[in-house]
Amino acid sequence: MNSDKKQSRYQRLYKQISDLIKESSNNPISNMSTIAAILHHKIEYFFWTGFYLLQDGKLQAGPYQGSLACINLAKDKGVCWAAINQKKTIVVPNVHEFPNHIACDSRSLSEIVIPIKNSSNEIIGVMDVDSSTVNSFDEIDAQWLEKIADLIYFD
Ligand code: SME
Repeated sequence: MNSDKKQSRYQRLYKQISDLIKESSNNPISNMSTIAAILHHKIEYFFWTGFYLLQDGKLQAGPYQGSLACINLAKDKGVCWAAINQKKTIVVPNVHEFPNHIACDSRSLSEIVIPIKNSSNEIIGVMDVDSSTVNSFDEIDAQWLEKIADLIYFD
């Protein structure tokens, strides 16, 4: 998808998600479910779209859309834990080149992971999106997905 098309797609989806969440829900799990459903069905290169949430030191599957995912992610391995530990968005152009990448579905070839913060600014998990082609994600995806992740705890 070219950059202009990507920008305008995200702009439209951001408004849709923001309107839906702000008029009906302050429940983070409902908000994550809504975000996963909209993004997954409206952006064609999103092969797996969802959330992993921290609980008792574990990173476990939250709301998602796509093929069956790992429920638990081995601590300090893979892209999701790297985003938590480094407290920043990580774009992986080719998962086969990422040391210790966790493959829940071998069709995933590129990935982006965004840390999610609650209203107290604590990291409570990540948003994770996989694509079945290499090099799907860039700075535009990172900026918009960070902005969308900020809607989960908007108050
Ligand atoms: N690839 C992730 C695991 C989650 S799946 O992509 C759904 C990782 O390396 O942390």
